[in-house]
Amino acid sequence: MDLIIRNAVLPRSAPKQPGPVDIGMEAGRIVAVEPKLAASAREEIDVQGALVTPPFVDAHFHMDATLSYGLPRVNASGTLLEGIALWGELKPHLTQEALVERALQYCDWAVARGLLAIRTHVDVCDERLLAVEALLEVKRRVAPYMDLQLVAFPQDGVLRSAGAFENLKRAIAMGVDVVGGIPHFERTMADGAESVRLLCEFAAEKGLRVDMHCDESDDPMSRHIETLAAQTHRLGLHGRVTGSHLTSMHSMDNYYVSKLLPLMRESGVAAIANPLINITLQGRSDTYPKRRGMTRVPEMLAAGINVAFGYDCVMDPWYSLGSGDMLEVAHMGLHVAQMTGIDAMHACFDAVTANAARILGLEGYGIEAGCEANLVVLDARDAVEAIRLRAGRLVVGSRGKVVSRSPAARASLSLEGRPTEVDFKLHRS
Ligand code: FE2
Repeated sequence: MDLIIRNAVLPRSAPKQPGPVDIGMEAGRIVAVEPKLAASAREEIDVQGALVTPPFVDAHFHMDATLSYGLPRVNASGTLLEGIALWGELKPHLTQEALVERALQYCDWAVARGLLAIRTHVDVCDERLLAVEALLEVKRRVAPYMDLQLVAFPQDGVLRSAGAFENLKRAIAMGVDVVGGIPHFERTMADGAESVRLLCEFAAEKGLRVDMHCDESDDPMSRHIETLAAQTHRLGLHGRVTGSHLTSMHSMDNYYVSKLLPLMRESGVAAIANPLINITLQGRSDTYPKRRGMTRVPEMLAAGINVAFGYDCVMDPWYSLGSGDMLEVAHMGLHVAQMTGIDAMHACFDAVTANAARILGLEGYGIEAGCEANLVVLDARDAVEAIRLRAGRLVVGSRGKVVSRSPAARASLSLEGRPTEVDFKLHRS
């Protein structure tokens, strides 16, 4: 074999194993997952009971804006509106070279964080489609080790922005994978609904997936998710459509939501919350109490709706922080949604791994024989510890090869009568 990871503990969502297992990989595939695998490989790593998970997956990102922090200036107020203004100032100065360079740098960070699949939106409200060309180039360049999926995103509204629908169609023809939208940003609620119809019909005709920025607002009457679910059902797009953000649901009337969630479930519409961004950009017009603005994650999961957590932004006009660490996203999502029960904490881990992989439609995702040989060894013993510690990625494997290593987090101590080292894990004698 090419690579064997020995003594791995798998996440709860993986098929049950009685104890640690060995994972054997050959020709880019996992070929065996069993205790004490009787085989040898060119490279063998004993991970001594560490958690080994399929890679992190970010279901919602903006790679055309990432790492542009400070260009041409920083977002002084930290608000959504100043961020949009800033992006407008930056757009005329974008060059393909700089876009590619920033995106590749982010992908380097992502690989080191075990984040090996990203769905990124790319703004198509630009005649030149500069960002589309740049991210298609990045997709080609990272393909040997990372899955990048592009969404044609009409940032200024597919109806509101002249030529946006034509640009979107051109972007799809160039190889962009998914149809995007932003119904709450159209001029009226009616235009928003019309944009959802148009875009879903286009996706159905082309056999594509859909992922719309939907109801990213504190307005409880922003109900485009209802239209998205209804169009998905009408056009038979079940399982291929996602509503991103859905923050208005936070403020909706409970009775209305009790009708909405079964509608989403029926049409197989998935949801993506972006906890870091939702908690910082929503509720800004509130005094106190201030709304959190994140959508109803535990309620949707309980209703049988697939929910993932996305990063959305890293060091761009809307968010000055971030480093490609999906455990940071899961950590924030867990807190904002108050998902502190034991099953709920594990569900937060799934929201940045298996659930997100389902939204992207990734094939061969998992730690099972036959799956792609992509995995992450975490400096943690289970998913809850991984979230708590935002655990280091000891080893990242992609297509059966080790592509990144990080040292374990340890601090040495010089205290009389105390241990000489701490690793921040609970040890009981
Ligand atoms: Fe977004």
